[in-house]
Amino acid sequence: MQLRTVSELLTQDIILPEVEIKGWVRTFRANRFIALNDGSTINNIQCVVDFENFDEALLKRVTTGAAIHVKGELIESQGKGQKVEIKVSALTVLGDSDPETYPIQPKKHSFEFLRENAHLRTRTSTFSAVMRLRSALSFAIHKYFNDNGFYYTHTPIITGSDAEGAGEMFKVSSLDAKNPPLNEKGEIDYTKDFFGKETNLTVSGQLEAETYAMSLGKVYTFGPTFRAENSNTSRHLAEFWMIEPEVAFMDLAGNMDLAEDFMKSVITYVLDNNREDLEFLDKRLQDEEKSKPQAERSEMSLIEKLNFVTDNNFKRVSYTEAIDILRNSKPNKKKKFKYPINEWGTDLQSEHERFLVEKHFKCPVILFDYPANIKAFYMRLNDDEKTVRAMDILFPGIGEIVGGAQREERLDVLKERMAAINIPEEELWWYLDLRKFGTAVHSGFGLGFERLVMFATGMSNIRDVIPFPRTPQNAEF
Ligand code: 4AD
Ligand code: MG
Repeated sequence: MQLRTVSELLTQDIILPEVEIKGWVRTFRANRFIALNDGSTINNIQCVVDFENFDEALLKRVTTGAAIHVKGELIESQGKGQKVEIKVSALTVLGDSDPETYPIQPKKHSFEFLRENAHLRTRTSTFSAVMRLRSALSFAIHKYFNDNGFYYTHTPIITGSDAEGAGEMFKVSSLDAKNPPLNEKGEIDYTKDFFGKETNLTVSGQLEAETYAMSLGKVYTFGPTFRAENSNTSRHLAEFWMIEPEVAFMDLAGNMDLAEDFMKSVITYVLDNNREDLEFLDKRLQDEEKSKPQAERSEMSLIEKLNFVTDNNFKRVSYTEAIDILRNSKPNKKKKFKYPINEWGTDLQSEHERFLVEKHFKCPVILFDYPANIKAFYMRLNDDEKTVRAMDILFPGIGEIVGGAQREERLDVLKERMAAINIPEEELWWYLDLRKFGTAVHSGFGLGFERLVMFATGMSNIRDVIPFPRTPQNAEF
């Protein structure tokens, strides 16, 4: 007898005289129908027990959350709602689950409550579907790059350069916090620290990825990323996962083409391979939308939104054009924006990004050629000397999902830009070397993985698309 998964059993069209399965009880109805799930699919398998033939004390232990082992015959279902079911001949309780204290009862729980029980929340249909999709999207990402000749590159998580400028950093130190060694100036003496210098958790693998692009050609990173900003929003995590492709001899237009093709490809992958989970989440979202006032409801269902992204071109708009649109927009004129748009040069807030994507263009938007002084030092300066070859991709309901650029490949210009913001050349000597030896046009971008998972699952809080979210004041589990 072979141990199978629920997913395998549910797709059998033949009757199997002997099957066995292990899983967790979702519900036990009328002392007869067990809905069993093992994580292999959103669907449960129905296990039917003739309670007359089973010990009453044993059946009492078949409670929601209990782990059980079932043997029996796979037959065509006698009832409605499923094609096949198991007529149980033997049942063992592997692990009891006290119904008085088990938190995940078969009823609607709030996402907040489930966050507090993040160790058990994947026992629910919603979170199991989200996390299966998260897994499928990771696979699709590796597959896309592998199919297209990219090398997976592991950039360091502990970094000695704090000049990347992408965000606030978490310090890494093995010094005694209560009694650190001090130098003559009375400051902490990091030469006595583990690495002999100040180190942090990485905010991006980009600068190191650039070194590999300038030898291996096409590379990407996919790893954990840390930002110590105190931003308690539904779109920010202190620990998140980022995908950063970097390609030699590719300019900004190529970077946009790559990003668009890549995003469409991974979304197509889940549309083709994770249909049941998406249909479940689609229905969940529709129910949630029904509780909103008409005006706030989304015009498209989840699956329609995903198809819309794969079937339509992303709209490419320069920062300057976007500012004109925003300046003349209704909400700006009626003073509805918290941050009014008055002049060229101001950074866009998420309210502006969402207006452009959700109200004006109604499709994914790639904004490019931003003012140099609101973007990072490493971005390629345009001939106007005011703008840089930056791009941000904005998605409906999410806002910024990708940030990237063509990199400054000219040594003199790069040095000037570093000097302007006081980045010492000694600190990034190796980064400057790339411009000294065989420099070339190159580009890349960073995709926030959790923001992609939010988009693909229709979940509205980033804490609900990563197993154990790390946010300000929260590192439980
Ligand atoms: O725009 P960012 O800061 O870009 C970089 O770090 C570049 N070095 C990337 C590159 O060119 N290789 O971050 C990239 C993306 C954002 O667009 C967003 O999707 C995500 O990372 N992101 C976050 N996701 C969750 N929580 C946070 N705190 C995030 N900060 C950025
Ligand atoms: Mg950004």
